Amino acid sequence: MGKPRSVCTAPGKIILLGEHSVVFGKPAVALAIDRYMTCTVSESDDFLLNGHRASLKKNPHLSRIMDVHGLKGLAVNTDSTVPPSSGLGSSAALSVSFSGAVRTLLGLDASPESMARDGFDAEYYSQGRASPIDSSVSAQGGGVGINCPAELCEPLWRVERDGRVWDVSSVKTPEMTLVVGNTGIKAATGPLVEKVRKYKERNRFASDIVDEMGSLAEAGLRHMSRGDLVSLGACMTQNHKLLSILGVSCPELNKLVKAALPHSFGAKLTGSGGGGSMVALTDSPGAVCDAIRKRGGEPHVVTAGVAGASARFL
Ligand code: MEV
Repeated sequence: MGKPRSVCTAPGKIILLGEHSVVFGKPAVALAIDRYMTCTVSESDDFLLNGHRASLKKNPHLSRIMDVHGLKGLAVNTDSTVPPSSGLGSSAALSVSFSGAVRTLLGLDASPESMARDGFDAEYYSQGRASPIDSSVSAQGGGVGINCPAELCEPLWRVERDGRVWDVSSVKTPEMTLVVGNTGIKAATGPLVEKVRKYKERNRFASDIVDEMGSLAEAGLRHMSRGDLVSLGACMTQNHKLLSILGVSCPELNKLVKAALPHSFGAKLTGSGGGGSMVALTDSPGAVCDAIRKRGGEPHVVTAGVAGASARFL
């Protein structure tokens, strides 16, 4: 008999409203999408990644979770359909799926909450700062709200770090058609989060924009709960404008958003920005895909609200 092996698959995400402002504890909403990261793990004295000896330093998400669970070595295999550094939650899906696989191998609790907490900790450690939105939606699946008005959601768990509080909840999502447009430009989250922190610290105007993005996310959640896609889309487009003013969009993202808007209820960048992807809420996915393709982006119609991470022994 070979060594025991465990596996966990976790979805990527889109953020409908509230990226960046959520880092400061403002409301936000994200949906799990049908792009997946799978991690398989088994015991090893060394750290092996996809069959090769690898550097723990160069894999901070994995090394952090290994440290937390007292592991010095491990054989890890990854398989992913979430494009990396593209705003679709690849690092959270990696952290969550790795946590689920490790926890299962060690006989520990692999509930969505425990995977989400490990994932958040790994994101925080690797990025220097983070909110729990990406890790929570990857672990829990469906729609996840952060600091959402109580009447609009089902509470899940609370996360606290450095004086900030994020109440994570599950939100019902109406039937929605979403098109993701990838600029093909890779952008790391950490530096963009740091850029917003510095801007907000030095500038009252930036601080007001962060507050405004929080109010917009709350308004969007109310529209979503009533199934009002027209108003939800308007909030998304306004959110994109505010993110642009904060300096986290780029010409390529703006081009794809502009191309999608004539055929959409609303469109915005998703994730940390600086490249990566935008998302459009639409009832004409074909027209949006054509428009994105014409402007040099790679369009995908995604299924949103899919199930969260699940782990098992192989
Ligand atoms: C990245 O997907 C979302 C950000 O708000 C960072 C975070 O919440 O950790 C930019």
